[in-house]
Amino acid sequence: MKKIFVLTGLIATAVVFYNCHGSKKAAATPKLTYNTNLKTVIETSCSPCHIAGKGNKKPFDNYANVKTDIDEMIRRIELKPEDKGFMPFKNPKLPDATIAIFKQWKADGSLENN
Ligand code: HEC
Repeated sequence: MKKIFVLTGLIATAVVFYNCHGSKKAAATPKLTYNTNLKTVIETSCSPCHIAGKGNKKPFDNYANVKTDIDEMIRRIELKPEDKGFMPFKNPKLPDATIAIFKQWKADGSLENN
């Protein structure tokens, strides 16, 4: 029984230290911006429909539109492909890592440039 307590204590300490280290690292990570991080993802994932001159849906190769619509964009890309309103329309669901870029960009303050 005692062993279990010692072990639990060790794990808890390890977790605390790991998280401290992790948050320090996160603070040093540059914030995501539209021009550097999101634009190419959109040009790949939401093309041709949302690219001006290629598709006829609301253009998202456009910072102002994306800044306004980011909540709706995230909501839709997180739906299941069979759900109504799912995006990218009639395409497979985006990989988690790609969805994470949309979310992180918003969390970082929806910046246009560095
Ligand atoms: C194959 C074409 C196609 C692709 C690719 C596509 N969409 Fe769409 N999108 C549509 C259509 C069609 C609509 C209008 C129907 C609707 O609202 O569901 C739409 C509407 C939307 C809307 C609502 C826009 C408004 O006017 O309010 C959002 C937000 C959206 N899409 C996000 C995305 C995102 C984000 C991507 C890329 C990850 C994407 N879509 C990829 C076809 C597409």
